[in-house]
Amino acid sequence: MTESKSKKVILSGMRPTGRLHWGNYTGALENWNKLQDEYTCHFMVADWHVLTTALDKATEIGRNSREMFLDWLGAGLDPDKSVLFIQSEVKQHAELNLILSMMISMGRLERNPTFKEQIRDLNMGGEISFGHLGYPVLQAADILVYQADAVPVGEDQLPHLELTREMARRFNRIFGKVFPEPEPLVTKFSRFPGTDGKRMSKSLGNTIEISASPEDIIKKMRPAFTDPARLRKSDPGNPEICAIYTWYRKFMPQEVEQTAAECRTAARGCVDCKLKLADGIIEHFAPLRERRAEYESNPERLDEIIAAGCERARAEAACTMEKVHHAMGIG
Ligand code: TRP
Repeated sequence: MTESKSKKVILSGMRPTGRLHWGNYTGALENWNKLQDEYTCHFMVADWHVLTTALDKATEIGRNSREMFLDWLGAGLDPDKSVLFIQSEVKQHAELNLILSMMISMGRLERNPTFKEQIRDLNMGGEISFGHLGYPVLQAADILVYQADAVPVGEDQLPHLELTREMARRFNRIFGKVFPEPEPLVTKFSRFPGTDGKRMSKSLGNTIEISASPEDIIKKMRPAFTDPARLRKSDPGNPEICAIYTWYRKFMPQEVEQTAAECRTAARGCVDCKLKLADGIIEHFAPLRERRAEYESNPERLDEIIAAGCERARAEAACTMEKVHHAMGIG
């Protein structure tokens, strides 16, 4: 590398499919927040990627992208530190997607485990679009167009990162070195339980949103999954299998020991246990809700922040594409 960069470059993205929930927060957002001082961060709303699996909801994508920005700003992502932007506003991603699509075989994409899983889970049978098969190519373009050194992702995204590295290597071998091979920064991904005890996921309908109001938090927590063997308040419980207990460990670590002890000895009932935690969680997310509401009530300011982030992203992406054009001798 010719120029010496003081900070390493990071890119990560999320698909805008609705308001973010506690699982997104613990699995990604909270970590992104911390990375902002150490790295030059790029955080992207991956709106084009939504088209691969949710074409029927295509008209909601624009609104969801704004919602995602509000959640991000609420959670503390800082537009003065990081480049926050929307994928479809930076057309260079599409150009690099086209070029990278020549650097990978169909067979390799068909063997991508994420793709195979999605086909199985979404029951997509014969209805797989060309663009869906190419999901990891677009993702590689997202990463490489900022010449990112590292990509914070959950473990589920590791196959995509490997594909990104392969495309970068292939390009560099043919045209000379333009792209770093980005390293994964795996988010310590504790499987975060939803209200039914299974992994929190929008498709399972077991989520609680980070922007939920205090009333909503209590309403959603009330029927949440606890130790199913604990039928009466006087029965001793097993905190290890209780979703509420995992939430305590995350949101009220100072209360964990006492909570476990009082559960095991039936000194505290599940209803009280949930209400106490609800208080803690309401407080935990209060600053987020306030910050989010401020931006929500000022749509012009939000527009400005989005426009400025996209502008900065475009400038950087254009700079990389110049190097690509130069290396290839076309474009
Ligand atoms: N595929 C990622 C997900 O579903 C979203 C994404 C799109 C992404 N482009 C990216 C993540 C680039 C990291 C880097 O979570």
